[in-house]
Amino acid sequence: MTKVAVGNNLGAGVDVGGSGIKGAIVDLDTGEFVSERVKITTPKPATPEAVAETVAEVLRQLEWDGPVGIALPSVIKHQVAMTAANIDPSWIGTNVHELLTHQLGGREIAVLNDADAAGLAEVAFGEADAKQGAVIFLTFGTGIGSAFFAEGKLFPNTELGHLLIDGTECEHMASSAVKDAEDLSYKKWAKRVDLVLKEYDRLFNPTAFIVGGGISRKAEKWVPELTVHVPVIAARLRNRAGIVGAAMAAHEHVAP
Ligand code: BGC
Repeated sequence: MTKVAVGNNLGAGVDVGGSGIKGAIVDLDTGEFVSERVKITTPKPATPEAVAETVAEVLRQLEWDGPVGIALPSVIKHQVAMTAANIDPSWIGTNVHELLTHQLGGREIAVLNDADAAGLAEVAFGEADAKQGAVIFLTFGTGIGSAFFAEGKLFPNTELGHLLIDGTECEHMASSAVKDAEDLSYKKWAKRVDLVLKEYDRLFNPTAFIVGGGISRKAEKWVPELTVHVPVIAARLRNRAGIVGAAMAAHEHVAP
């Protein structure tokens, strides 16, 4: 593995997703990776113990024994996982901090929601608009993740993916996993995203939406189709954001 020589302000982040557990060493001054990105397939079932072992393996491959932030697709309160929409139900009630401290030794560890982590990174290193006003940051992937920012300050653990529209959860209607499962064109899928954004706008009246997740790499194919009357900006960090935000959380002691 090649590490680039940089300043000392380094951290590591690991993003636990439905298909992969991804980590990298991050330059916290620039938000850039200074190592390769290590990705290991998410174990099945993705129990806390199995995921903790995989996180340890990612860090071994990165040769990193310093502070680490972990982003999980779960509401995290006082470092305890409160929900498990797209991971194994046995996460609910797990003190993730304790579990990982046991697995990773006595280093600094911060655990937070994956969309919150990605949003924090976007505010710090992404579009200037992310820092101003009332911003809703969304990730489209296996589910829909959300993070609310007022003047760049996070209100953690919002779960807009589970808001109901006509009895259906938004993420069951318009995640990128649904696009794949139903083989929807970008145009058809964008119609669903539009419906979801209009409902979020009706209820929360943000000044801008920032859309992230893997599918933001193809933003030009679907963002122009949206008709919601609020600016929709493609996230700049793309799927790097979760890792960068997790690393920032450990470094800045931002842990809900
Ligand atoms: C989870 C959120 C998560 C989002 C994106 C949702 O199903 O409930 O906590 O942020 O998926 O992974």
